Amino acid sequence: MAVKILALESSCDETAAAVVEDGREVLSNIISSQIDIHTLYGGVVPEIASRKHVERVNQVIREALQAANCSLSDIDAIAVTYGPGLVGPLLVGVSCAKAISLSTGIPLVGVHHIEGHISANYIEHKDLEPPFICLVVSGGHTHLVVVKDYGEYEILGRTRDDAAGEAYDKVARAIGLGYPGGPKVDALAKTGNPNAIPFPRAHVEDNGYDFSFSGLKSAVLNYLHGCEQRKEEVNRADVAASFQQSVVDVLVEHAIQAVKEKGFDKFAIAGGVASNSAIRTAFEKRCAEENISFYRPSPILCTDNGAMIGAAGYYEFIKGNVSAMDLNAVPNLKLGER
Ligand code: KG4
Ligand code: ZN
Repeated sequence: MAVKILALESSCDETAAAVVEDGREVLSNIISSQIDIHTLYGGVVPEIASRKHVERVNQVIREALQAANCSLSDIDAIAVTYGPGLVGPLLVGVSCAKAISLSTGIPLVGVHHIEGHISANYIEHKDLEPPFICLVVSGGHTHLVVVKDYGEYEILGRTRDDAAGEAYDKVARAIGLGYPGGPKVDALAKTGNPNAIPFPRAHVEDNGYDFSFSGLKSAVLNYLHGCEQRKEEVNRADVAASFQQSVVDVLVEHAIQAVKEKGFDKFAIAGGVASNSAIRTAFEKRCAEENISFYRPSPILCTDNGAMIGAAGYYEFIKGNVSAMDLNAVPNLKLGER
């Protein structure tokens, strides 16, 4: 019998629900984005995000069940993101999932948001099984991870300061592109010269797998200030393309080095920044050269969504990792913790 999971995701500014069968078959994936509202403020306002989740969550769940042609009586477990993320938004999803679980008796499964991002790869790559190495690049995280087994992770490297997505968002703001920055930098960079400005590629001395993006961000800001002082016009497309090239070079170099040194032949990317066109193209090319099988979710499954939580929730559920009614939101939940 197929296992159907109803999955909820509300850790940031997307209210999302999905129905996923056996961890890999997406029956529905409804995403209600709050981008329009947060754009007015130049970034996510946590209190507004919480309130919008409350307003939308029931409707999004109803739509997800309808689109999957299901009712709650067909559902085997309810998976919900319980961390990391913004505490108010997380609490909306967790409270809602607990209420459904309590009133129907359907088991509850708390899911780690980053585990969800990684598991998005299982949906379209039916052949992908652990072990493999995954680079998780999102708005809050930059992790180089060994996926040892379903739900078992070893973190090889992480960012010492800004996450990759955070760097994109800050640079976007500095060159006047606004929020959300990543997709806008991605688009503008297509018309710029990636070799126009030699921005730095940071190496962290004591752990070659760790990342640092704050120096790159400062270099971009210094460059912009310099142009302003000299009253030189800024070519924003060149800034976007050169910044992006620096990010791409660092991500590719670190990740491929890890895959080779650790003796893997499978590599995946995950998280919102993994939808970036230049990052995807660079990894496709480099993995082909190095004979590494490369996996990446479609862009819509890279950014926050419910289907990825359903995929991760399935593997937790079949291992017997069911959550109790005291499940709480954990804003700084670490990968591998339960
Ligand atoms: O995974 P995600 O949806 O949310 C978090 O868990 O953080 O990632 C959001 C991040 C934002 O920083 C956004 O600017 C970035 O992903 N992003 C991109 C692109 N699309 C989204 N960054 C670069 N290029 C893109 N095309
Ligand atoms: Zn995310």
